[in-house]
Amino acid sequence: MSSRVSAHSLLIAPSVLSADFSRLGEEVREVTEGGADLLHLDIMDGHFVPNLTFGPPVIAPLQKWSDLPMEAHLMVSNPSSLVESMARAGVNRLIVHAETDPHLHRLIESIRLNGMSAGVALNPSTSLTVLEEILPLLDRVLIMTVNPGFGGQSFIEGSLSKIRRLSSMKERLGCPRVRIEVDGGISVKNIAQVVSVGADTIVAGTAIFSGPSRKDAISALRSAAGVLLV
Ligand code: DX5
Ligand code: ZN
Repeated sequence: MSSRVSAHSLLIAPSVLSADFSRLGEEVREVTEGGADLLHLDIMDGHFVPNLTFGPPVIAPLQKWSDLPMEAHLMVSNPSSLVESMARAGVNRLIVHAETDPHLHRLIESIRLNGMSAGVALNPSTSLTVLEEILPLLDRVLIMTVNPGFGGQSFIEGSLSKIRRLSSMKERLGCPRVRIEVDGGISVKNIAQVVSVGADTIVAGTAIFSGPSRKDAISALRSAAGVLLV
């Protein structure tokens, strides 16, 4: 086992972007019963990314179908405008893109003041250096392993080095409890690789929602991860 493997337990976070939206409640219930650890909700505004999804009115009723923690991954140009409404909708963690707000520190503080934990997402082209001053305030960092906007894209291989470097940065800055989450193109073919370099939270859309059984897909990801993290 690589020395970089995290001490955190491995978490599987289904991205409902690839779910059947005509039966979103049932889909959320199925992944919950199928062993998911949290729900990953992709919020897109058609501006920061060229795609449009959903917002608080769709999120709030999901609590009737699942008791899992919900995280909202905001791919929007003006994330601060959504902090309060996301908290009211029952979101437990807000993940904001570093590229969307020059006042990241203030945004993170406002997320925490609204009772949520905070994560920061980085596009593939964004350097880890933006995290230097804020890492201790974060619950997790979301490394985008595709360019955000759509499900079903191919994993960008250069992400492995970035995840490895983030693991080192956590050690250097004394932030062992910050999780490393990966999002985009993760499947049974590459999950072991991302875990071996330090990822401990895995977002998966297509890999979970494209086959017949959500439960089997989640189990397959866990066993393909190949290591049992304690
Ligand atoms: C992409 C989203 C992802 C997406 C992942 O912008 O942030 O969460 O749903 O989907 P897959 O697993 O299909 O790449
Ligand atoms: Zn996402």
